Amino acid sequence: MFVSKFKSMKKLVVLSGAGISAESGISTFRDSGGLWNQYDISEVATFEAWTRNRALVLEFYNRRRRQLYEVEPNDGHRILVQLENYFDVQVVTQNVDDLHERAGSGKVLHLHGELKKVRSTIDDSLVYDWPHPDLNEGDICEQGSQLRPHIVWFGEAVPALEEAIPFFEEADICLVVGTSLNVYPAAGLIHYCKPGTPLYVVDPQEIAGIRSSGKVRFVQEKASTGLRVVLEEILASES
Ligand code: APR
Repeated sequence: MFVSKFKSMKKLVVLSGAGISAESGISTFRDSGGLWNQYDISEVATFEAWTRNRALVLEFYNRRRRQLYEVEPNDGHRILVQLENYFDVQVVTQNVDDLHERAGSGKVLHLHGELKKVRSTIDDSLVYDWPHPDLNEGDICEQGSQLRPHIVWFGEAVPALEEAIPFFEEADICLVVGTSLNVYPAAGLIHYCKPGTPLYVVDPQEIAGIRSSGKVRFVQEKASTGLRVVLEEILASES
């Protein structure tokens, strides 16, 4: 059981991206050597690609899913779990891996889907846990249609967005880690925070539009070390 050091638990929202899983060995998308340097988005991550070359799309996500069985959460994920000792933490992640959950984060919302889930191609509400490395042609839903990865592809709506917005509106502290803030609507979520909400950003690379000033603190380090700095700074500012 966790006991808060503080009288009432403040709400801390985390927006995470591929960078938090980089130290676990999962490629980011837009770094040099990232996935979108190796693959053409339009060939593997759109609904058009799915209709054009289903086998290629399935194989792309099968590779990502198989990798999940070989990687472990890292200190970055674990520090976010530690924050739950002090704050009411809600993680909102763009990641489709399950490393936040495996590290022990209690509240995780996936904006862009989950590799370990699949869904029907004729009924979006038919979502299934998929505890297998591969999803293949011929794997069908209970209504007999092909199953697809439970992933938000480029050009598709982000159904979890509506659920995510209040977490940012109500946050007392916002923490962004490992995202280039290139992809909307996810990147726009931080703008739902109340004016004056402390914003901490952790990334080893510069992020356009983000620099330390006023209530914004940019820690230019990788997740494992940068989040340690943030944890200490937040606790110091709250005590
Ligand atoms: N720790 C923290 N951040 C890191 C680390 C690390 N060890 N290594 C790299 N990064 C940073 C990069 O500097 C970059 O700013 O992580 C960020 C990753 O950015 P992207 O590759 O653009 O990933 P992300 O922002 O999560 O992408 C958003 O785009 O392709 C879609 O749906 C996909 O969810 C994804 C979305």
